[in-house]
Amino acid sequence: MGNVILIGFMGSGKTTVGLKLSYYLRRPVIDTDKEIEREEKRTISEIFAADGEAYFRDKETECLRKLLKETGDRIISAGGGLPLREQNRELLHRLGKVFYLRAGAETIYERLKYDTTRPLLQGDDPKGRIRTLLDARDAAYRAAADVIVDVDNKEFDRIIDEIGSICRMEEKHENISDQRTEY
Ligand code: S3P
Repeated sequence: MGNVILIGFMGSGKTTVGLKLSYYLRRPVIDTDKEIEREEKRTISEIFAADGEAYFRDKETECLRKLLKETGDRIISAGGGLPLREQNRELLHRLGKVFYLRAGAETIYERLKYDTTRPLLQGDDPKGRIRTLLDARDAAYRAAADVIVDVDNKEFDRIIDEIGSICRMEEKHENISDQRTEY
């Protein structure tokens, strides 16, 4: 199965689900935003302000390429805009199984209304902005996804159970077919 990859809009719960899933599946978790901030030694807001969105998007592609070279299965939490590039969607598929945490505009707004760390949502009408971006992005998220997980009004534990049980089942099947090839 390779890596377990979480995609979805800002505020869809990728970071929280990633952390909880890492306990459940006993795998390390990696966050593309944090990797980029660490490499660049500055925050996402600083990167957007100084070099713009296109520069940041290039860093996301570089980050995926680097992850492809690394071994060991992990949970990868991908920045909300990362799956928008077709090239990135291909890289995600090569990296593992992609779960789209699908959240509606209301859920996202409630979670992010006081957030100041997402440069794309700053401004007078964050709710309108969320709706516009979500409409524009949903097709790309669906194209990138192997599995869609609806997260509105759902406890995190239930989300972890849903994703975790799919992963456990796949791991089990892989073990069985590994054993078969030994005979
Ligand atoms: C972005 C999402 C953010 C971060 C950046 C741009 C986006 O990540 O990569 O602010 O375009 O949706 P999160 O989804 O982790 O908030």
